[in-house]
Amino acid sequence: MEYQNIIVETKDKVGVITLNRPKALNALNDQLMDELGHALLAFDQNDDIGCMVITGSEKAFAAGADIAAMADYNYMDAYKGNYVTKNWEHILRVRKPVIAAVAGYALGGGCELTMMCDFIIAADNAKFGQPEIKLATLPGCGGTQRLPRAISKSKAMDLCLTARLMDANEAERAGLVSRVVPLEKLMEETLAAATTIASMSLPVVMMIKDAVNRSFESGLTEGVHYERRLFHASFGTYDQREGMKAFLEKRPANFQNK
Ligand code: HXC
Repeated sequence: MEYQNIIVETKDKVGVITLNRPKALNALNDQLMDELGHALLAFDQNDDIGCMVITGSEKAFAAGADIAAMADYNYMDAYKGNYVTKNWEHILRVRKPVIAAVAGYALGGGCELTMMCDFIIAADNAKFGQPEIKLATLPGCGGTQRLPRAISKSKAMDLCLTARLMDANEAERAGLVSRVVPLEKLMEETLAAATTIASMSLPVVMMIKDAVNRSFESGLTEGVHYERRLFHASFGTYDQREGMKAFLEKRPANFQNK
């Protein structure tokens, strides 16, 4: 697939996808979401990649779904066209970790996209919000569900109902983002985190992502049981043996991703 709305690069074992519709502040249209899904799934299949990063520009990660593209939709366009299910949720099938590196606006569908990533590193100029209410619609890709889980019902209601934007520091205090870094350090810090992850044993990385995600889908007892099964499974890997032996022999581990 030839990409026109994203830039795809690899940095060592990290796959980097940059949303690239600068004139529309990376508004997310069908073409862009098709391309993003394709690129993510291609990296997921690529044995040389251990972690992915999605980022935007300094001004906008993404200012939301493309309002110009959806302004004339009627109910049947949305329902029969399977908007947004048909191409926004490929990311949920990705088994390797995906980090969102967010500078500037992450609004509406842009905020929802960051929440479908595994964690968010924010530049100090980042702004998050679900302002759909101003357009007389609502978050349509999980915002009303993932935001309260991330930042509490009260804050999620506040953001979704008033359309106010939350800055990076508030987002960190609320637990939406894992760290806030100076804008000029955003990619350096994110790539360092991604490179660290990519240096770990990939099957175990995927098990950890799977187990943490399970916590959103299950009760505690079932979730802990799921974790325990994966924990036991890790003892079936070559890398567990290598990792523990390397520790005891006081040398770096040489993981084989098996
Ligand atoms: C289409 C958009 C856009 C969007 C910005 N642009 N956001 N185009 N869809 N979501 C375009 C503008 O029309 C403009 O194009 C150009 O990008 C620059 O934007 P400005 O508004 O001139 O920039 P600025 O004054 O700096 O304001 C930035 C902004 C504002 C505060 C982010 O653009 C804004 O409020 N955007 C909309 C945010 C929003 O409502 N998002 C939720 C969308 S609904 P021109 O051609 O005029 O230069 C949604 C639903 C999700 O996401 C549910 C399904 C996933």
